[in-house]
Amino acid sequence: MKDMENVVLRGEKISFSYDGVKVLKDCSFSVRSKDFAAVVGSNGAGKSTLLKICLDLLKPDEGNIWLFEKPIDKFQEWDKIGYVPQRILNLNLGFPATVEEVVSLPLHITNKLKNLSKKDKINLTDKALKAVGMENYKKRLIGRLSAGQQQRIFIAKALISSPKLLFLDEPTTGIDNETEEDFYNLIYKLNKEEGITIVMVTHDYTDIKSMVSRVIQISDGSISESIHNVEDGDIR
Ligand SMILES: Nc1ncnc2c1ncn2[C@@H]1O[C@H](COP(=O)(O)OP(=O)(O)O)[C@@H](O)[C@H]1O
Ligand SMILES: [Mg+2]
Repeated sequence: MKDMENVVLRGEKISFSYDGVKVLKDCSFSVRSKDFAAVVGSNGAGKSTLLKICLDLLKPDEGNIWLFEKPIDKFQEWDKIGYVPQRILNLNLGFPATVEEVVSLPLHITNKLKNLSKKDKINLTDKALKAVGMENYKKRLIGRLSAGQQQRIFIAKALISSPKLLFLDEPTTGIDNETEEDFYNLIYKLNKEEGITIVMVTHDYTDIKSMVSRVIQISDGSISESIHNVEDGDIR
């Protein structure tokens, strides 16, 4: 089954409804290692719902999800997965946590990481902040940063367990156009240089067409998939 090689995420005939209202029906898709997949569709199409199903935050009515070739109910290596949820708008300016506290949070709650030495934890935090270009903001209060900077911090938080597969839900909501471009370049770099597989929800992917290798389009509850061939370094 050459076709199934390197598939890190697979959905098979997923159906899901909220209180009897069907949102997804018979949705099948797959994402391969090192893909940059865009999940697209209009507002309310079911993009966030699909991500939550892939993360085991919601259970489908029917169908199956595989993560790294394991059925999701048998999958345990959650440190391989990073998740940046849809942006918390209007994060309180006084939110009493510093950048390093937010980024290092998973180190205190993830089984595999919580026994690391204090020094290792500091090193991992520094490395994650460096990956998003925010190493000089460690002591700053997160609420005082710009929207784009906050998003970088949430990505650093998702990167701290060195995930192989990173889910991002509309990461550029509320970010101005110029910062948006830097931001996409950052994600692209994580994909190309670090080899992290990306699954990113966006309602419009015209800006990133040249970066994505796969498009998962949801409309009327159904999925259509298309594969793009991107040349290395093909960045606008
Ligand atoms: N917790 C919920 N309870 C009931 N309906 C919901 C809930 N979350 C989302 N929905 C509905 O499900 C549909 C899909 O939502 P969502 O997955 O958030 O769409 P998208 O992310 O594509 O904008 C929408 O009609 C939305 O109103
Ligand atoms: Mg959404």
